Amino acid sequence: MQDTSAAIASLKKQLGANLCIMGHHYQNDNVVRHCDITGDSLELARRVPGIDAAHIVFCGVYFMGESAALLAKPGQSVHLPSLDADCLMSRMTPAPLARKVLEQLAATGRKIIPLAYVNTDLALKAVVGEFGGAVCTSANARIMLRWALDQGDGVLFLPDRHLGNNTAETLGISQDERHVLRVGAAGLVQPETQPLDRKLLLWPGCCAIHARFEPDDVEAIRAEYPGCRVIAHPECRQEVIEACDGAGSTSYLIREAARVAAEEPGTTLIVGTENNLVYRLAERHAGQCRILPLGHAICGNMAKVTEKKLLATLQSVAAGAASPLHIEENLCPPARLSLTRMLEACGN
Ligand code: 13P
Ligand code: SF4
Repeated sequence: MQDTSAAIASLKKQLGANLCIMGHHYQNDNVVRHCDITGDSLELARRVPGIDAAHIVFCGVYFMGESAALLAKPGQSVHLPSLDADCLMSRMTPAPLARKVLEQLAATGRKIIPLAYVNTDLALKAVVGEFGGAVCTSANARIMLRWALDQGDGVLFLPDRHLGNNTAETLGISQDERHVLRVGAAGLVQPETQPLDRKLLLWPGCCAIHARFEPDDVEAIRAEYPGCRVIAHPECRQEVIEACDGAGSTSYLIREAARVAAEEPGTTLIVGTENNLVYRLAERHAGQCRILPLGHAICGNMAKVTEKKLLATLQSVAAGAASPLHIEENLCPPARLSLTRMLEACGN
C-alpha cells in the first residue's frame, strides 16, 4: 500500500501542473488523500472550468467524469481510473425514453421543463438541454426547481423521485401537486389515466443505496442513542428525511459534522449516506463527537476506484499512453447547455 501511495506521489510530482486529480466525497480514504480537489457533485463541476492542467484524473463515477469532460477546455483530457464505475441511478432514464415521455407531455399542450439530477448520462443531459431544461445537484435542487417552475407550466424532475419529493417539500409543493409517472418501455403507461396536469411530475427512479433506509431505522437509532442528532442525504425517502433533524448534499453533511463537533461536543451524530464518507467524518472528529452511520450503505461503483487503479491511470498518463474519456461530439452542445444553465442560475 505504501509503495502504491509513494509511486502516486512521485508521479504527481513528475506531472506537476499538467495534472489535477479530482475526487468525490464517497471515494475511499486511500484515494481521497491523493486528490487535489475534493467535493460534492456541484463543487466538482464548478471547479472544472478553472483548471488549467492538461490532464484531469477524475475519481468518481462515470457521469461525473462525463460532466468534467463536457466542462473541460479544448485540448484538456479527462481520465477515469475505473471506466466501469457507473452510478446505477444514472441509467434509470434512457435518453430515448425520456425524449418520448417529454413529447407525450408536450402533446398535452403544457410547457413541461425537464430538470435532471446531475446523476444522468450525457445523452439524457442533451435531451434536457434541447427541451429547455437544466441539470441540478443535491446541493442546489431547491434553487433549480424554483428556476424550472418559472420557465414553464410544470416540471419533469428526473431520475430521482426521492430528491424530487424532498425538494418539493422545502418549496411547499404539496403531495397533490405532484405525481410519480408510470413509465414503461414505450413511454407513459396509459397517459389518459395519469394526472399529467400536476405542477411536478417525477420520474420513477431512485438510488438503491439511499432508498434502502427506512423511517424505522431512524426511530431505532434514536432509541439506541437518546439525544442523538440524525442527518441524511436527500436521496433518502421523504419519510426518512422527515424523521431526520437535517438533510443535504454530501458537502452539507460534512459541514454539519464540523459544526456539531465544534458547537455541540459530546453529541452523537448519525449520518444517513454512503459509509466511506461517514467513517471519514467519524475519524476526523473523533474525540469531539461520535459519528455513526444510519445503516450499511456502500456504493459498490464508487468503490471500484482504488488506489492501485489511480496509480495505473497516472502511469499511463505519464507514459503518454492513456486513453481519455471520449464523449460524443454531437451531444455536447445541448448537454453543455443544460449544465451551464445550472451554473448560471446558481451564480456559477
Ligand atoms: P452529492 O451531489 O451530494 O455529491 O451526491 C452525489 C451522489 O451520487 C449521492 O449519492
Ligand atoms: Fe449513484 Fe447512489 Fe452511488 Fe450516488 S450512491 S453514485 S446516486 S448509486
